[in-house]
Amino acid sequence: MRVLSLIRSRFAPVLANWLTEPDALNAALERIVASREAGLADYQANVAMPLQKKLGKPPLAIAEEIVSHVDLSDLCESVTIAGQGYVNLRLSPKWLAQCLMEAHADPERLAVAPVATPKTVVIDYSSPNVAKPMHVGHIRSTVIGDSITKILRFLGHKAISDNHLGDWGTQFGMIIYGYKNFRDDVAYAQAPVAELSRLYRVVQRIIGFQDAVASIPKLELALTKAEQKLTESKAKSAAAPQDKKLAKEIAVAARQLDEANEELQKAKTSIEESSQDHDFIERSKQHAELGQRVLKETAKLHSGDRENLELWEAFVPNCKDEIHSVYTRLNIQFDHEFGESYYHEMLPAVVEDLLAKSLAVQSGGAICVFLDGYEAPMIVQKQDGAYLYSTTDIATAVFREREFGPDASLYVVDHRQSEHFQKLFDVLRKIGLTHTELKHVEFGTVLGEDGKPFKTRSGTVVGLNSMLDEAVSGAYEVVCDPDRLLKSGYAFTDAEKREISETVGLGAIKYADLCHNRTSNYVFDMKKMVQLQGNTAAYIQYSYARTRSILRKAETDGIETSKWLDAPLVLIEAPELNLGLQLLRFEDMLNQSMVDYLPNVVTEYLFETAKLFSSFYDQCSVLGAETPESVLSRLRLIDLTGITLRKGLELLGIGVVERM
Ligand code: ARG
Repeated sequence: MRVLSLIRSRFAPVLANWLTEPDALNAALERIVASREAGLADYQANVAMPLQKKLGKPPLAIAEEIVSHVDLSDLCESVTIAGQGYVNLRLSPKWLAQCLMEAHADPERLAVAPVATPKTVVIDYSSPNVAKPMHVGHIRSTVIGDSITKILRFLGHKAISDNHLGDWGTQFGMIIYGYKNFRDDVAYAQAPVAELSRLYRVVQRIIGFQDAVASIPKLELALTKAEQKLTESKAKSAAAPQDKKLAKEIAVAARQLDEANEELQKAKTSIEESSQDHDFIERSKQHAELGQRVLKETAKLHSGDRENLELWEAFVPNCKDEIHSVYTRLNIQFDHEFGESYYHEMLPAVVEDLLAKSLAVQSGGAICVFLDGYEAPMIVQKQDGAYLYSTTDIATAVFREREFGPDASLYVVDHRQSEHFQKLFDVLRKIGLTHTELKHVEFGTVLGEDGKPFKTRSGTVVGLNSMLDEAVSGAYEVVCDPDRLLKSGYAFTDAEKREISETVGLGAIKYADLCHNRTSNYVFDMKKMVQLQGNTAAYIQYSYARTRSILRKAETDGIETSKWLDAPLVLIEAPELNLGLQLLRFEDMLNQSMVDYLPNVVTEYLFETAKLFSSFYDQCSVLGAETPESVLSRLRLIDLTGITLRKGLELLGIGVVERM
């Protein structure tokens, strides 16, 4: 039930008398919100205050006038005015029960109505670079993107998912070079992807080292300049000691000097470390200017060189299989997986079009799009003819436009790429994609306990799989703890224990990614995420299993499902009313979560629901309720709670078990 829109629709004609501008009316209607002040108001309309100026009357009088005209008699038990003119609404328990019974009669959709104007939304998520080790950030993109896709679909939108695999970039130049020069044939035959990852790292390390060596003169120059600047500022300040601006200048110059020093030291230390490794240094000498050599291999691949293309064709399926093993485990499917290579042939036309429209220009040998507000332009073709990540992204957007005609295009990608997407969207609007909502659904970094970006032990897909294994065994320890099972009276078979820990463990990983506001960083804490207490998947899954166990117990006590399935809901006590009100908000909550694509709105809702369920069950006896009607009503409410928790988890891509 879309309660908020319903209530707003009742206020709208009354407010429209004063607010004739649609924007002003909508702004006022937005001030009608769900209230968390249990017992005082279920919903609150703060609509009188903003009208004070316009009507020249005290808000209290305005509120009274509004209330006398709004008809809420069928929905509300009471409509009162508080304080400076807040309108407090309390729902009628009868109406509430009626809505919940409708939801319960429709367990698949919980009576959630498909949106009136469905949108076509393309969601670009996961999108790892296949030859590079997939990292935790890609899991975050995968989990967030999958849940947004599921929620949008459930709400009735046409959601099209596309895994934009990085299967064509410089990393292939790196592994092709590595394969030609450093490969271990036995290792490659045994585990090709592991060997390719190793080759990637070998090449990356040499390039990193050579870049550091090459950067020393530049860093030294920067240091000298910073020293000069500081000396100058100090001299100027000595001549005019009162000048505050000069004092500030000294502070800035001193900081810049520190930074320059730090950078130089960092480069020197890393060079120093590698210099101990004589084999490495030897190798680096033999493969001087490796960055350039790698670029050549990439360029050869892109221009259709037979050998490189054959290597690429041999590498890609292996890399994909490896990545798909993670998706299978996480139960994630995509509608499409075109990947960057798919757009290769479209790239020349992209650049020609930009040139023809005078959006791109030649600059320093490269072809660039200059954009207002950015220092650096977007380069779409390099001097050597190579196309870039950005060029592919433009081609991809144009292709999606033609193929799917989306109303919105979401990119679920790490926040570090935010400038790339801002520039990309600017360019896309310039070439005419003006009617598509383009949105970078960015997310923060997953941190380790040391506060630095979290790394799996081996930094490879194997690492990711073993991270999932670790979560499953962590869940096993908590959920299948022998003492706990003894107390609960469950004698699970080994297969059941495995199923429970797999569901709880994978749920834990997903839930931990989803329950933090996606824009913030979070610390990856495996111990915490598998706990049965707190805002965890396990707590919600346990609450669901508890609803099932209560219903099973009722059945053994002779109250079969058929007795309560259609029984009238009667909500009287505060805990059951609070729980009922929370369940009623499911649809509003889902719509709210998609305003800014925030799955944590769903996790918060589920956590709150589980807590309200727990206090309801603590305070209201079910089988010992006062009347037989109340027993049946409460069983039905419990079933609806379970169905709601299960559906909410399902929309996050998380499963449940019937017993745990
Ligand atoms: N492959 C990129 C990476 O791993 C992410 C791609 C995101 N999607 C896009 N259309 N740019 O950083």
